[in-house]
Amino acid sequence: MKLWGGRFTKPTNRLVEEYNASITFDQELAEEDIQGSIAHVTMLGACGVLSQSEADQIIEGLEKILQKIRAGEIEFSIENEDIHMNIEKLLIEEIGPVGGKLHTGRSRNDQVAVDMHLYVRKQTVEMVRLLTQLQRVLIEQAEQHVDTILPGYTHLQRAQPVRFAHHLLAYVSMFERDIERLIDSYKRVNTCPLGAGAIAGTTFPTDRHMVAKHLGFDRIYDNSMDAVSDRDYLVEFLSICSLIMVHLSRLSEELILWTSEEFNYIVLDDAFCTGSSMMPQKKNPDIPELIRGKTGRVFGHLIGLLTTLKALPLTYNKDLQEDKEGVFDTVKTLTGALSIMAPMLQTMKVNKEQMKKNAESGFSNATDLADYLVNKGLSFREAHEVVGKLVLYCIEQDKYLAGCTLDEFQRFSKLIEQDVYDKIACEQVVEARISLGGTAKNQVLKTLSEKKKKMDET
Ligand code: ARG
Repeated sequence: MKLWGGRFTKPTNRLVEEYNASITFDQELAEEDIQGSIAHVTMLGACGVLSQSEADQIIEGLEKILQKIRAGEIEFSIENEDIHMNIEKLLIEEIGPVGGKLHTGRSRNDQVAVDMHLYVRKQTVEMVRLLTQLQRVLIEQAEQHVDTILPGYTHLQRAQPVRFAHHLLAYVSMFERDIERLIDSYKRVNTCPLGAGAIAGTTFPTDRHMVAKHLGFDRIYDNSMDAVSDRDYLVEFLSICSLIMVHLSRLSEELILWTSEEFNYIVLDDAFCTGSSMMPQKKNPDIPELIRGKTGRVFGHLIGLLTTLKALPLTYNKDLQEDKEGVFDTVKTLTGALSIMAPMLQTMKVNKEQMKKNAESGFSNATDLADYLVNKGLSFREAHEVVGKLVLYCIEQDKYLAGCTLDEFQRFSKLIEQDVYDKIACEQVVEARISLGGTAKNQVLKTLSEKKKKMDET
């Protein structure tokens, strides 16, 4: 017998039952659903809508069901459609007809909304924790590599040498913004829709603030129609998660490049790599590749939900049931990626010599030579031209700038003197970038200590 069976003359078609049901995935919300129901019933008891003893019996029943779910003793059924009606049915089985009073003044529309708010709130906190853990590992590695120098790239061409710490700290800043976004979204996540009823509110003398307070919400939706149809907070969550995946994927891409023999900058620990079934020599970076690959599904969930919401009339429509699987899968994908990235980075070995060798070969000190000429009185544009010609000459002669004799330099500009060699030496090139946020040692150390301090505060 369906909880809504009264006006029906026939049993539901089996295909409809299966197509319509969400219990296969929304059982993820079991804990939140019971938490929400307990808050609702507590309020109904306090407001005199139910007697205290009725409220107590229902709460006791819900707690029993929660224990059974946790113990894995419950089998949910498709016939009861979703987590809300499954639990209500179980409650009635557990405590008898008084269980039928749980749904007084409530609809599944505000119920499912409150469940999802509680779920995303929990996951937002967890995401911040995982991001912070990853930042810690990046900071630890950065501390080890303040004096490790590698080429910085633009267009994947050697551009200017940087400290490896500086490179890693760029990711710390990216993840810091992700954390800020999560914290900002929290106030919208932490808003209580319960009490909106199906759409218009309820006729019972309820106290929405009491429910919100019981559930730890900071505020309540001020419009019952908005409360049941709003999924903005899910779009925000998916969008923040998409950006986190962008950052993880860019980091993964760099790890993949760096482990290749062509770069040979890092070695990932054997425990974090896999082999080939055919080629005995292979050690593949499957994990960063998978993280990079899984980015697509998270973007897909974001676009999927936006598309579901577009053109939906107010208020609840069954389309909204489609909001869940993408969110659950996103949480699973992000949790997995963040959890595995941290120990993978922690255990990677850095090939400082190779990084340094690459930083010293090539023309990544060309800007420094131009700046040198600017300090000797040329305009930057003139200096650029001189150094450009010098680089071309070096390429033809198969040498680097530092390999030129003073005589060769002076054929391009008389302003170049013996002191040029110090200015274009790799260490000096790195050390010269003293501007705020640059790669000079004192700047990197300053950023490092600021980030560490921030970590300690969280
Ligand atoms: N399973 C539904 C969902 O996830 C719960 C809300 C159902 N509400 C309704 N009016 N049919 O959206």
